[in-house]
Amino acid sequence: MKDSLASSFEKIYGCKAEVFAQAPGRIEFIGNHTDYNAGFTMGVAIDKVVMVALSKRTDRKICFASIKSGEVVEIDMDNIERQKREYNWVNYPLGVFKFLLDAGLEAKTGFNMLDMSNLPAGAGLSSSAAIELSSAFAMSELYGFNADLKTKVRIGRKCENHFVGMPCGILDQGVSGFGKKDALVFIDCKSEDFSNAPLPSTCKFWLFNSTKKHALVDGMYEARHNECMEASNVLSGGDSRLLREFSIEDLESKKAELSENAYKRAKHVIEENSRVLSAKEALANGDIQMVGKLLVQSHKSSQMLFENSCEELDFLVDEIIKNKNVYGARLSGGGFGGAVMALTNENFGTEDAQEIEKAYASKFGKKPMVFTCSAGDGAKLV
Ligand code: GLA
Repeated sequence: MKDSLASSFEKIYGCKAEVFAQAPGRIEFIGNHTDYNAGFTMGVAIDKVVMVALSKRTDRKICFASIKSGEVVEIDMDNIERQKREYNWVNYPLGVFKFLLDAGLEAKTGFNMLDMSNLPAGAGLSSSAAIELSSAFAMSELYGFNADLKTKVRIGRKCENHFVGMPCGILDQGVSGFGKKDALVFIDCKSEDFSNAPLPSTCKFWLFNSTKKHALVDGMYEARHNECMEASNVLSGGDSRLLREFSIEDLESKKAELSENAYKRAKHVIEENSRVLSAKEALANGDIQMVGKLLVQSHKSSQMLFENSCEELDFLVDEIIKNKNVYGARLSGGGFGGAVMALTNENFGTEDAQEIEKAYASKFGKKPMVFTCSAGDGAKLV
């Protein structure tokens, strides 16, 4: 992949790339919509990546090209502004560059950048976090800026929140940054502590993407975010403590003051935080059956309380968990369409996946996008 990126870079820009970095996509393992509530969550970095190549320019332009789009977008580095819809893909590395400058990166001249990816497109694997983290690594290296991993992860999230305009938490960037082969990433989103939890090598991940995307998916995400903030405002009496700080008893005692939706979203988040901690403990005890049960409980809670599932995802989970080689399955990521993750033993194979594909196709008239992957390392220079 690096050789092919290097030669495309030379063709497009007429010079050699000086720096290469890569960052993986992620699967959300458990902890749905807990991250921006300062809660707990777990994800897994996968063995598929976005790779970027950079070289310095002699003027003050920054140029972005993507193998996928084939076009080059040129921006004046003294006038960094959010790009319009058709160039939205540029906003991820552009926002990262802007916040690296704010953090102290010094750049006398601009750069050329090209990206390439072997992450399946639109599969719900957070290619945006992967481009943010790979850009943060490559840009820091190119300009000799000494930022630690946590700073790069936080800059990735800042780019989403304050440049792209997506009010996400730190899950995607944290996992893409702190991923480790054969391990999960556990995140305490309040202290922003990242640690790894080993995963038995007999466990496999399968992803079943419904290929359904709710037309208002960004708006729905924001709506859920707002409902959670509404609940935490009531519970904290306005002192800005987030849902992480509260127990089910706290919630019940304020039920009368909450809208029905705010109550349901908060109940999901509070219970989901406990499920993440239980899953972490079960993993440490080698109790994978228990982990699987918690995954299914998490899905049911997304379905009934957070209401970010849909008919397609519910069907996939129900079909997948019928298979005896499956420990558990749940929707993974923002929801309202997107993908279901299954945790299986090593006997689950292509034929099992095909059976589920067939059942899905006969109900919904189209096949889900299915693939398997394993836990890979986080972002790095290559
Ligand atoms: C998306 C966001 C994450 C997280 C999940 C839901 O993937 O980018 O920050 O909120 O949804 O858990």
